Amino acid sequence: MQIRAIIFDLDGVLTDTAHYHFQAWQALAHDLSIPFTEQDNEQLKGVDRLGSLRWILQKVGRTLSEAEETRLMQQKNEHYLKLIEHMGTKDLFPGVQSLFTELKQLNIKIGLASASKNAGMVVERLGIAAQFDFIADANYVKNSKPDPEVFLLAAKGLGVTPEYCIGVEDAVAGIEAINRAGMRAIGIGDKELLSDALIVYPSIDALNLADLQAL
Ligand code: BG6
Ligand code: MG
Repeated sequence: MQIRAIIFDLDGVLTDTAHYHFQAWQALAHDLSIPFTEQDNEQLKGVDRLGSLRWILQKVGRTLSEAEETRLMQQKNEHYLKLIEHMGTKDLFPGVQSLFTELKQLNIKIGLASASKNAGMVVERLGIAAQFDFIADANYVKNSKPDPEVFLLAAKGLGVTPEYCIGVEDAVAGIEAINRAGMRAIGIGDKELLSDALIVYPSIDALNLADLQAL
């Protein structure tokens, strides 16, 4: 295929924030006396803040008022922000900078499609914000992954139609979003789990542009 843009997820693809989200959700679930395992967390990767809270609550058939939901989301986010306080350029996953440099040389646009409202701040901390041609995140969309909205917004912002876009994701919900957007999906992580992706790499530094061009 001719690749005109690659649209990256953030958490778990470009840096290890997926782990901090997990820790913060697990602590909140613990406070609510709701069991929450790493396996549960796989379902929540790529899902936005409110969707994640509601998923945890539904495990025990609980629903809460809007005010209570807001308070709990704030609590989780404050914990998450504390966990990532120390984050900086050293936390960019190996291979990302060289990949971005290669994409620039080939004139392939670089987009971000994140379910996180903290995405802008995190890419600033990682020192890569200026390299994105367009950033789409949870602040600008209504529907969370697996809805394709955030990927479609990124493609639109980049001025590239979905058929020329590749999406890169570590989440089951994210791979579904890319597929529903009509783009080609590349997984980062577990092959079995991300079985709807065309290619799955164990980490982003294994991503090979020639493989993608051969799709
Ligand atoms: C996604 C993560 O990128 O963002 C989820 O995969 C996280 O784990 C979600 O819950 C929402 O993030 P935030 O920063 O808006 O609370
Ligand atoms: Mg992710």
